[in-house]
Amino acid sequence: MSEQLDQRYVWLKEQIAQFDLAYYLNDSPLIADAQYDELFRELQAIEKTHPEWISADSPTQKVSGYVNQVFSEVVHGSPMLSLNNALTESELIAFDKRCRESLEISEVEYACELKFDGLAISLLYENSYLVRAATRGDGTVGENVSDNVMTISQIPHRLIGSNLPQRIEIRGEVFMTHENFQQLNVDQRNSGDKEFANPRNAAAGSLRQLDPKITAQRSLSFFAYGIGELVPLQWLPKRHSELMDQMIAMGLPVCEDRCIAHGINELLQFFQKIQASRDQLPFDIDGVVYKVNTYRLQQQLGYVSRAPRFAVAHKFPPQEAFTKILAIEVQVGRTGAITPVARLEPVLVGGVTLTNATLHNEDEILRKDVRVGDTVVVRRAGDVIPEVVMVAQEKRPIDATVFRMPSVCPICESQIRKLPGEVIARCTGGLFCNAQKLQSIIHFAHRRAMNIDGLGEKIVEQLIAEQLIRNPSDLYRLGLNALLRLNRMGEKLATNLLTAIDQSKQSSLARVIFALGIRHVGETTAKDLGKYFGSLNSFILADEEELLKVRDVGPVVAQSIRDFLSQAHNIEVIEQLMACGINPIEKVSEEIRIKAFIGKTVVITGTLSTLSRDQAKELLERAGAKVAGSVSSKTDYLLAGSDAGSKLEKAQSLGISILDEASFFELLNMQD
Ligand code: IVH
Repeated sequence: MSEQLDQRYVWLKEQIAQFDLAYYLNDSPLIADAQYDELFRELQAIEKTHPEWISADSPTQKVSGYVNQVFSEVVHGSPMLSLNNALTESELIAFDKRCRESLEISEVEYACELKFDGLAISLLYENSYLVRAATRGDGTVGENVSDNVMTISQIPHRLIGSNLPQRIEIRGEVFMTHENFQQLNVDQRNSGDKEFANPRNAAAGSLRQLDPKITAQRSLSFFAYGIGELVPLQWLPKRHSELMDQMIAMGLPVCEDRCIAHGINELLQFFQKIQASRDQLPFDIDGVVYKVNTYRLQQQLGYVSRAPRFAVAHKFPPQEAFTKILAIEVQVGRTGAITPVARLEPVLVGGVTLTNATLHNEDEILRKDVRVGDTVVVRRAGDVIPEVVMVAQEKRPIDATVFRMPSVCPICESQIRKLPGEVIARCTGGLFCNAQKLQSIIHFAHRRAMNIDGLGEKIVEQLIAEQLIRNPSDLYRLGLNALLRLNRMGEKLATNLLTAIDQSKQSSLARVIFALGIRHVGETTAKDLGKYFGSLNSFILADEEELLKVRDVGPVVAQSIRDFLSQAHNIEVIEQLMACGINPIEKVSEEIRIKAFIGKTVVITGTLSTLSRDQAKELLERAGAKVAGSVSSKTDYLLAGSDAGSKLEKAQSLGISILDEASFFELLNMQD
């Protein structure tokens, strides 16, 4: 038994070392985070029962990480450590208990922060100037990435304010926002380069570049969360939360989502609040961090080999897991879009059992090289549909089979077609296809559309099969007797459903427009259309020119709306809806719309002399523009103030129109 355990122990050590190498040195993980954590914990558990086996090279005894020899080395003034994890509430309770007992106090004050999912960086400032930047490396020795870090616009080259310490090493996290990550992968795909698996790897891969010009093109972000070296030591405030405030005053970016908490209940409140709003954050986090707030108490608690005793990372349940693809089938959406879906060997992810995951489209399947029989990483995040992230190539069985897109719709047997230049294949059956009928009515009834409570997929399926409805307007003609013909439909349920259908007649214009399910018209566009046209009558009469005046409506959306409205059966449905009493009226917005900026994407960079960035952003948005954070091929204008850096260079290289303040005001004044 012990021999078996010994073998397992050696195997775990080797495997973890291999995974660390792929993750830290090559920025390309071999396994999902959750799987890694599981193996790591198994290793820790074995070491607990056999402390005599532990040697200095065990992954539990050192900070994971590697130093790439192509960078010069930086020896950290004090080691850059890891954090211990609490994966469950009881582990957190145990952490708090240990702190209280060691400190002999009844309640501990903690500083709570987000746990950013990027890579740790050390920034050394001497006499206010940034003189060196290094990665964490193996915790003791890091990589000198100063030239690269100098290109990150959020990292100040000089600290501001009086009373600055002579020498201060700021520690924090470099990361990439979702928006910049997606754009980077689009750019990588277009240039035939390898895409990144997630924003963390993209951030690490972008920072650890030999050529700083590449880093400069990769919009990276930064948040400070602590310090390393400090001269003079007396400069240090009493509490960590005060240090964070000082860092803001010095011009360093510090994340606003932080608080001070007393005792376990307030820690849990912070955790729950952040977990609930996690999906709205523009960047990835994998948990929150609690740090004993008073430095004197931190010192008292001290360190274990690789982590402090005074802090802990309270991790969210994993969003990724490994499973097997049993089959790949296609689903038909409300606009006929054919989506390949992977049928999975059931797997538990974040407390939910997944049996399906989307593969998006045929190109994605080819790009990720997904085959039936493959072991894959699946990911489930918030409201987003679970997706297949990547294939574990090394686990591919020899009989894994390649997916072929069917040529006819599995529901109505109409031809499946892909238009030139489009990635999505579509069923050509239109509303003749029962799948499209079904999906369009489900969408119509959706909580965020007409909000018809109780009208779920099973009921709509039956209503269509019984030929009780063909389009959404038929819902408003349903009576009690018709509903009672359905399976498992009692009088109470039927009456409630009829009430919900009746109440939905009061929906706002934005909801009604969204509910129509026009391609490319999401909730936001529907709101803008509602505000602009004020009624269904004037909306259905709109021509392309008029549509283009609406904020966020570009040629593709305008064309799609016109296509929809030019089909007689769609107008018929809208007229029938109006006849049933659905005719919301909205006050037409008096917003100023300035032609030059309507529907345009603008990026602001550098220092403007007469406006703050927020003011410029507001003016642009009022003029119908969208303000984005990073320059890409989709940018229409770059509004550049003085000291514009990498964004200006990138815009110039992409041939994007650059506006200085004078020409910006000139365009703003061209009212239509
Ligand atoms: S404090 C002594 N605070 O998590 C520990 N770390 O496993 C110093 N991280 O490599 C870290 N957000 O890159 C701290 N608010 C935060 C953090 C944070 C993310 C990362 C950090 C470190 C890893 C620890």
